[in-house]
Amino acid sequence: MRVTIEEASCRLRQGEVVAMPTETVYGLAASIDHPKAIQHVFSLKNRPLDNPLIVHVSNLFQVLEIADIAGEEIAILTERFWPGALTLVLPVKDGALSPMITAGLSTAAFRLPQQQETQAVIASVGPVVMPSANRSGYPSATEIKHVHADFGKEFPVLEGAGCGYGLESTIVKKEEDTWVILRLGAISAEQLAEVLGETPHFVKKDQKGAPICPGTLYRHYAPEARLLLDPDTDLATVEVVVGFCDRTYPSHCRLFSLGNSNDPEGVARELYRTLRALDSTGVSVAWVDLSFPEEGLWVTIAERLQKASA
Ligand code: TXA
Ligand code: MG
Repeated sequence: MRVTIEEASCRLRQGEVVAMPTETVYGLAASIDHPKAIQHVFSLKNRPLDNPLIVHVSNLFQVLEIADIAGEEIAILTERFWPGALTLVLPVKDGALSPMITAGLSTAAFRLPQQQETQAVIASVGPVVMPSANRSGYPSATEIKHVHADFGKEFPVLEGAGCGYGLESTIVKKEEDTWVILRLGAISAEQLAEVLGETPHFVKKDQKGAPICPGTLYRHYAPEARLLLDPDTDLATVEVVVGFCDRTYPSHCRLFSLGNSNDPEGVARELYRTLRALDSTGVSVAWVDLSFPEEGLWVTIAERLQKASA
């Protein structure tokens, strides 16, 4: 079911869960003031309770009310990337957020999304938590029909422009004066380097060896279909290829196209739609063409495919 800005705001205020489009992927929103609604987000997704949620805001002031920082400390990133596809993990003031949102951590993740209708809802309701609108472990939703496939046709989805990136936001955190990437995403390390002056590292574990981004512990982005990533796979034995429309594969192979191999933005937008299409057409095994450059958005695309095959 599609709902308007007014209807979505009204439902969120009453403690319901509503799906909303963002420039990255669709999210499953609940007001941060409604613990039952937040609980419902976890149960709808079948999401482990130790995987914290991103708080989505409509202005920087809302972040500064919750986070234990001064605006200047994050200005270098917020001035360039907000509103947008960058999520900042920041220390939170004691008691400022429900431990359900932070999974008991002393930090929380924040993002100011760009999508106009979604911003209007948050401006009206206040901050919302918003994990990707998919069953936990499976590919994120980049179209309304994906949300309806996962949560049913009657599930309320805010009407608005679709997802421009098709990949989740990049998550960063400051570790001892240096910004590091906790999750690769729609903003590339190269883009971050333009303002930070150096390329931030992608850090998976903290100094004690514990995962720094709890979500990385779990199965992610994976279709039911098994994905083969080995470049030396004998294509004579392969029936389905996930590849590029400007390349040729053996004629017996059925191609699920990610788009043009010279267009990483286009491929990012097609990625989850393609993985979902494998399942909706009953494909059980597919070989993925991973021969593309190790730079920019391709790095995120490769990481998502690696995880999707795990
Ligand atoms: O693009 C996006 O970020 C989308 C849209 C809807 O905004 N949201 C999204 O949320 O991808 P979700 O819940 O699917 O992924 C959030 C990730 C999880 O891996 C979680 O572990 C991590 O953010 N995270 C949340 N709070 C954190 C924290 N305090 N420290 C480290 N990682 C955190
Ligand atoms: Mg997700």
